[in-house]
Amino acid sequence: MELINWEEKLLPYRQAVDELVVKLENIKREYETFKLASPIEEVHGRVKSVASILDKASRRNIPMENIFDELEDIAGIRIICRFVEDIERVVNIIRKRQGLDLNIIQEEDYVTNTKASGYRSYHITIRYAMAALDGTKSIMCEIQIRTMAMNFWASIEHSLRYKYSGNLPDTLKTRLRNCADAAFQLDTEMATIRDDIIEAKLISQTKNNLVDNIVKNLHNLHYMTNMEKVSGLNRRFIEIYQDGDLDELKAFDNKVSTIAKLYKVEYV
Ligand code: GTP
Ligand code: MG
Repeated sequence: MELINWEEKLLPYRQAVDELVVKLENIKREYETFKLASPIEEVHGRVKSVASILDKASRRNIPMENIFDELEDIAGIRIICRFVEDIERVVNIIRKRQGLDLNIIQEEDYVTNTKASGYRSYHITIRYAMAALDGTKSIMCEIQIRTMAMNFWASIEHSLRYKYSGNLPDTLKTRLRNCADAAFQLDTEMATIRDDIIEAKLISQTKNNLVDNIVKNLHNLHYMTNMEKVSGLNRRFIEIYQDGDLDELKAFDNKVSTIAKLYKVEYV
């Protein structure tokens, strides 16, 4: 049998993973720019290690020559959401790209249909079209979408499974299923305070933006006007910041912007 040049074979998978991560992170950035709650919290990508590819191929009795046609998760993307209902929003975002840069081959809903182990996630297997030297290449990729709680459980269970070479003792299996129930409870509880959590995140984003603006304007003014005046503004800024009143911070940002405009050093 021909020797596989792994580095060469895995190269397009690396490219596909990199491209998908950039595209998905950009969707998150778009939500944040428009001050909307992003259903995407984190995006991770990885190309399966050669050892894991060989393990999975032998577990599934896939002959060497079929590995790249049959293994659907050599390229893998994981999208982490804050809330269960975000999973469906992410699924819809991916479905909308159908026929553009990807084709959906299969969807598996382990969020509704929890696995016997306790595992929950939504899987979408796609063929991703990417630009290559010799034209467009279509790369199979598995996208796993899950909440932070589901991810916590899955990563712990995965490492235990690894430790016990897949043969978890029954007591441990039971305890892990209990943990899965607890993770489910956590997701359910979090959903009930979702609006509060989203509002809190938006407030902290707004506060960060205001502080960035004020600091940049004060910095620019520092070069243009007398030190006394800027020092006064700076002291006032620290006081308002320490008081923690967002409306006061907004008003102060307006004031500093107006002064910066006057000196034509406004940060925009
Ligand atoms: P396998 O990948 O060999 O399981 O084949 P499959 O495609 O039939 O499985 P499935 O679609 O159920 O799962 C694919 C991937 O989901 C796995 O490679 C894991 O990353 C993850 N997964 C599925 N079940 C479990 C589980 O019980 N525990 C953990 N930690 N991960 C799981
Ligand atoms: Mg699968």
